Amino acid sequence: MVMAFDWQVLWNQVLALALNLQIWFIRQVLRRPAPPLFTTSAERAKLQADSEDRCVCIEILGPGGVDQLRASLDSWAVCGYNLMRDFGSQRLTSPPKPLRPDLAVVRNKAFSINYADVCIRWGLYESALRFVGWPIVPGFDLAGEVELAGEDSGLVAGDRVFGCSFFGSYATRVVVPRTQLLEMPEGLGFEAAAALPCVFATALHAVHLAGAWPNELLASGRDALVHSAAGGVGDMLCQILRICGLRVIGVVGQPSKVKSCKADVVIDKSSDDWVLRLLELPDLQLTGSQAKAQVKAAQQHAPNGYRAVFDANGVATLKMSYELLGKNGRLVVYGFHSNLPKCDGGLGMLSPWNWLRMAVDLARTPHFDPMDLTLDTKAVLGFNLSFFADETETCGKYFAQMSEWLDAGKITVPPVQTFSLSAARDAHNVLTSGRSVGKLVVERLYGLSNPQGNHGEDVKELYYYLDATPTHSYMKMMYKYPQAEYPYDELRRVNFDRKKDPQLLEYELLDTGILDDNKYFDVVVEYAQADLDDTLVQVTAWNRGATEAELALLPQAWFRNTWSWKESPSKPKPTMTYVPEKQRIELTRSRHA
Ligand SMILES: NC(=O)c1ccc[n+]([C@@H]2O[C@H](COP(=O)([O-])OP(=O)(O)OC[C@H]3O[C@@H](n4cnc5c(N)ncnc54)[C@H](OP(=O)(O)O)[C@@H]3O)[C@@H](O)[C@H]2O)c1
Repeated sequence: MVMAFDWQVLWNQVLALALNLQIWFIRQVLRRPAPPLFTTSAERAKLQADSEDRCVCIEILGPGGVDQLRASLDSWAVCGYNLMRDFGSQRLTSPPKPLRPDLAVVRNKAFSINYADVCIRWGLYESALRFVGWPIVPGFDLAGEVELAGEDSGLVAGDRVFGCSFFGSYATRVVVPRTQLLEMPEGLGFEAAAALPCVFATALHAVHLAGAWPNELLASGRDALVHSAAGGVGDMLCQILRICGLRVIGVVGQPSKVKSCKADVVIDKSSDDWVLRLLELPDLQLTGSQAKAQVKAAQQHAPNGYRAVFDANGVATLKMSYELLGKNGRLVVYGFHSNLPKCDGGLGMLSPWNWLRMAVDLARTPHFDPMDLTLDTKAVLGFNLSFFADETETCGKYFAQMSEWLDAGKITVPPVQTFSLSAARDAHNVLTSGRSVGKLVVERLYGLSNPQGNHGEDVKELYYYLDATPTHSYMKMMYKYPQAEYPYDELRRVNFDRKKDPQLLEYELLDTGILDDNKYFDVVVEYAQADLDDTLVQVTAWNRGATEAELALLPQAWFRNTWSWKESPSKPKPTMTYVPEKQRIELTRSRHA
């Protein structure tokens, strides 16, 4: 069989390489500074003046580092690629009239960051290049409130929904087909909801390909190996595989990820070079007693081989993953992140050296021979969710399953780390550092929505991030809390009134005069991790005013109410106790309460 060579793919990659190198040259060699995510105040004021009812979207201008992420206010709404045929572009400049009956317009409150978004930014994501091009508003997951509902959508304005947009969710107003949305269950917040759809659909499709859902297909073995098991998709794979009755062996890259990994057995590959050495399979020519012991330990979990291995690593582990499969085992490949560099901080650009290494890794990435697959009786399967937008029936089934398991409490939302809209670049950097656990979600803070404000949405709270270690073992922030009643109504009313005159700027908390004469508290919150299970929180409030003022500090903690579940009635409720001799409040929770 002669395989047709896809010149389009090659051309896209050559173009991505050229554009990446161009921006790398501009920033690194010519040392031109990167512009901020939001435009300068003058441009912003102009944009704000005519931004009534516009949406704020974060777009990627072209291939490159995080400097290619820019905020834009020039659209009314954004859509995924499967609606671009109808609207002619990803960005709509005005409300569609009439709105197609099967669509909904969602005021997006939170969206998540997926590794795919970073690949899009580097120009390496084929579906983004093919279906959208540059500039692109990336993003898969969204959670928010329905603003306009098509007449066949079964939704009404104000309904809380979450779902998948197949690009476009980095925007505060998104047009989405009803089939890609779900109504939010009671008690689920926007940030948690935005963490779910993409990782769930990816994980469930992978498990489906492995033959473990919806029906049991494979007879032999019940062990599954999941790489990067504490990441977004990895977390969900562990949960789904366990629901499907498999025993999950999860591999994580750092000791700090072990605790949060939901696998039955967790292997920390950073503790040794066992993965690298396993690449020398099938000979297993290992040197060093520790390495041998690690390999043995890994193989002990599945002496007859794994029934399924889920691998998004690429070159680093693919060969090993194949070798570890038992008879009839299935290797499900859904990403190649070890072929790509880890970028921690900075602009996160691909340098010429990175490209060279990527080319070498691409050449080293194993190819699987159909003859070998037949003789070994193993299967290798791959997929990419971003090509699924037209498979509405499949997506519908996956979302229905997500809803059912969520309602039944069978799956939980992966750990979520939240970022503000203006920290979207930081969120990208955290994901490419390789240190992240669970999902990264960008959330809108409390403020005015587009129709309420005179220049689009705007956060009206005053807070500052003051310090943090790279591991977040220590963090410090400050919040300015007025001593008089918070002027919510005034902020809303004055900003709304200013819509009449486009020359007027936004009305901020400082403009209300509520902080005059320093009549406010500086509330400083610090987090310090004493141990993996022990987080210390210190809240210090400074009265900056001249007179005494009262401040009530209410310690709060959120837990999922698992203690009321029938299956585990013995699990005690978490407790919060004031310990006078230590002058502190202690919070105790039972394991996994
Ligand atoms: N095919 C699809 O449809 C589809 C859909 C969604 C996601 N994906 C793929 O699934 C993988 C996981 O995506 P995610 O969004 O859930 O990310 P994630 O797992 O939350 O984060 C990435 C993790 O990958 C590991 N890693 C290994 N090499 C890395 C590198 N060079 N740079 C950064 N991380 C590296 C790190 O974990 P450890 O060190 O613990 O291994 C890191 O925490 C990605 O490869 C993504 O492209 C595929």
